Amino acid sequence: MISFRLNNPTEILFGAGQIAGLATLVPAGARVLLLYGGGSIKANGVHDQVTKALSHVEVVEFGGIESNPVYETIMKAAALVRETGCNWVLGVGGGSVVDAAKFLAYVAPLDVTDPWEHLARGGAVTTILPVGAVLTLPATGSESNPVSVISNKGRHLKLPFAQDGARPRFAVLDPTTMASLSRRQLENGAVDAFTHVIEQYLTLPVNAPVQFGFSETILRVLIEWGPVLVEKNTPEARENVMWAANQALNGLIGSGVPQDWSTHMIGHALTALYDIDHARTLSMVMPSLLRHKAADKLPMLVRYARNVWGIEEEDEAVAAEKAIAATADFFARMGCPIRTSDMAEVDIEAVVSHIAEAGQLPLGEDKDIDADAIRAILREAA
Ligand code: NZQ
Ligand code: ZN
Repeated sequence: MISFRLNNPTEILFGAGQIAGLATLVPAGARVLLLYGGGSIKANGVHDQVTKALSHVEVVEFGGIESNPVYETIMKAAALVRETGCNWVLGVGGGSVVDAAKFLAYVAPLDVTDPWEHLARGGAVTTILPVGAVLTLPATGSESNPVSVISNKGRHLKLPFAQDGARPRFAVLDPTTMASLSRRQLENGAVDAFTHVIEQYLTLPVNAPVQFGFSETILRVLIEWGPVLVEKNTPEARENVMWAANQALNGLIGSGVPQDWSTHMIGHALTALYDIDHARTLSMVMPSLLRHKAADKLPMLVRYARNVWGIEEEDEAVAAEKAIAATADFFARMGCPIRTSDMAEVDIEAVVSHIAEAGQLPLGEDKDIDADAIRAILREAA
């Protein structure tokens, strides 16, 4: 196992009615910047529940955070934080709002000429305001991890940022808030969570039976309950997918194991260039990427074939290919594209340039997915 340090301090409140717990989670005297998206929380009653539970503190609201949250919009929220003296940030929504809330918590107090440039180069933050999250769309795991993926419209870049201190102090996961989600967002959520596990599990066979076994459980839960969620949106499916998505990217299964994330970095470029939903960029790249790396990933692909898909085929290469085909079939059954040509005519050089400009080359657990490998993967995915 690779040595690791794990500290996930996010307090989780899971279940129906837990939004009322904000009354005790946010301390008296806090001045809260309530951050939200395009208005779904006003239509489905979540906004009412949140403001009722926050009646003991002062609340300033900022709405309009986009899907794939935009830096320029977050900087407007940052100006409001400074103007009003807010000392807490509460993100209420999906991964985009929660990502924006975490980024806002350290960009608002930051006094540098060009905060994007500063942070993209790994510059230090000064203060991080305390963050809380009320999650309404299970997918990203953002509610208890340190990552924010932010799109800079001016620079045409979508980049991940991470600050441990920005992990939410608490996250409220009430599955009943998922009742108003569209089929497309339910599809996206389960598929995104699935790929998060794959990026941390289908790498190299280190000694990590706890992490790999738990990863397999999360994958099997998503394979069983993802389709039920999409077709019927039952209370049981909501609970199971919401918890699985959280566990998929809260740091636990990725501790002590090599991680890949190349599908995600290629996917971020595709979203930046073609405005495609995050999960859909992943479903259309991952099968080709796994095929391209099948020889290196063989031991884990075989384990995945046997333990997740129940494939008994003895020939290891054939078993690996069957597992990749089953993965693509799962994405397709979840309503997501498995070829880039289903969504856009992709300019492969533009994708490579995005990843190069983001400073992410080479990708992969072996750091061997270079520009040429990305070209080959995208040709195969077309
Ligand atoms: O804008 P609102 O009105 O909130 O509507 C949203 C949005 O239109 C809607 N929605 C959310 N909850 C709803 C609802 N509609 C009805 N009822 C509800 N209960 O759903 C739409 C999509 O929301 P969004 O937050 O954009 O989706 P998601 O949670 O999939 O987040 C995607 C973003 O997270 C980033 C992605 O790159 C993308 O920018 N990621 C963040 C990660 C992290 N922090 O660790 C990891 C991921 O791999 C990912 O990159
Ligand atoms: Zn993702």
